[in-house]
Amino acid sequence: MLGEILSFISLLTVFVLMIIECLKVYLNHTKLRAFHQVKGWPVIGKGLDLIGKNNVEMFESFITETEEMSYAWIGPIPFHCMFHVARPEDFQAILTSDKFIKKAFPYTFLHNRTGLFTSQPSIWKKHRRELNSTLGPKMVTTFVPIFNKKFQKMTDLMERQIGTNIDIHEIMFRAVIDTLLCTSFGVDSAIQNKKGTEIYYMFDSAIDLLQKRIQRVWLWTPIYHLTLDGKMEDSKFQAFYRFNRTALENKKMNLAEKLEHGEDELAIAKANKNQNFLQKCLQLEVEQEFTDEEVCEEMDTLLVAAGVDTSSTIFFGITLMLAIHQEYQERVVDEMREIFDDVNEPVTNCHLSRMTFLELVIKESMRHFPIAPLIGRECTSDFEINGGVIPKGSQIYLNSFRMHRNAKFYGQNAHEFYPERFLPENSADWHPYQFVPFGVGTRNCIGSRYALTSLKIALSHILRRFKLTTDLKLPDVIIEPSLLLKICNKHAIRIERREWKSNK
Ligand code: HEM
Repeated sequence: MLGEILSFISLLTVFVLMIIECLKVYLNHTKLRAFHQVKGWPVIGKGLDLIGKNNVEMFESFITETEEMSYAWIGPIPFHCMFHVARPEDFQAILTSDKFIKKAFPYTFLHNRTGLFTSQPSIWKKHRRELNSTLGPKMVTTFVPIFNKKFQKMTDLMERQIGTNIDIHEIMFRAVIDTLLCTSFGVDSAIQNKKGTEIYYMFDSAIDLLQKRIQRVWLWTPIYHLTLDGKMEDSKFQAFYRFNRTALENKKMNLAEKLEHGEDELAIAKANKNQNFLQKCLQLEVEQEFTDEEVCEEMDTLLVAAGVDTSSTIFFGITLMLAIHQEYQERVVDEMREIFDDVNEPVTNCHLSRMTFLELVIKESMRHFPIAPLIGRECTSDFEINGGVIPKGSQIYLNSFRMHRNAKFYGQNAHEFYPERFLPENSADWHPYQFVPFGVGTRNCIGSRYALTSLKIALSHILRRFKLTTDLKLPDVIIEPSLLLKICNKHAIRIERREWKSNK
């Protein structure tokens, strides 16, 4: 009896899948005719081609020869038509349209429903409007003394590792969590010490598992959570969230104590118009605009999804490029010698605007290492483009990794590290959307000013104190482009003490 039921279910499934296949081809044929189709198998589309491939090979299997917009079916999921976009004009048309505010389906695996990075457009619009100012230029200016204190602490800790190869991604990861907790959550922690390392390894392995799932269509069902990987991933994320909840509870207790002594921190910050990220979230909770879950998930968004691995990976990329290209490192240090008297002098807002060569280096590093190599969006209503129509429900992957390395847009030396390409005289005829390290449009990175300011301050402290070296050459750098980009050459950088002499 059981056997008969199972065969009936199997037959029914095959039948339904075939109907879906016919429907999707029939319904979308005329709309899709204008686009290049990447050929796949019936029903499963490109899904089968992914089996047995590692992260990099999977990523590459979707990259077509041309940067023209193309599409592929990746499985029997109705309307899961996947578009590949790699031209600046298409980035512009798509990311500035309100039909593409919804994130692509794989973002639902990020264990976060209501935070800025993953939320549905209806929740996102309100959250973004409310939270924009907490990470805007005015607020970031006030964070500068904290950035100095935390990154000075980072370089103090690095003193112990002089003469050795260091994992600069981990070091920066700990410092960035410390900085974010202090600037945006008002929590002064000792996380740069041992606890930070524990959290780093937990995060690193959780993200690896998550990336693995995202790239394997057959792991997209809820059954994944019953597998060993699924259970491990869930437990690591839960541990991370427990850490955030504890910090949040402590902060709430601290606010309640202050209130008992007549100090209403939230009301004062609101009146002074300088609420940090958490103060704003908690004030909105008091006003019943945010739920408790929304506050927690916004905290997770900054500390897990968006604010930490992004900055630390980019910092790793910049330092690696400077270690490989000693001539550029010397030019950045020369710039520092013109700006600072002392090796430990704190950076001011005035100093920041004078770090012009460092800015070119940061941009060129972000071109090489776009942290979101594929920006994923869902089309929420049929969208006309390039003589065709992207059907509602399609998943769009905007490939900034490929666009940033395309010789058509960056010339024959696109694969080289050449910061001068960003000089105004060399980039005047670029398309405004060919360089998109922080995304584009209304759903771009809310933390871009925060990130650039903190990167400049961290780099100015580290480069005044240490010389960075490596045995690697540019072609030896191994990167895994996935939902987030990963640089695999850990422990590639060595630090030596730098002789500091100001030229002021
Ligand atoms: C160099 C470091 C960083 C880079 C390269 C970066 C890049 C990005 C990119 C590409 C996106 C996605 C845009 C899209 O989907 O179109 C994004 C979103 C986001 N980033 Fe960043 N980011 C960085 C640092 C930060 C920091 C430090 C914070 C917070 C303090 C932050 C908070 C966010 C948030 C909350 C979102 C979601 C925004 C939304 O959907 O409204 N990021 N970032």
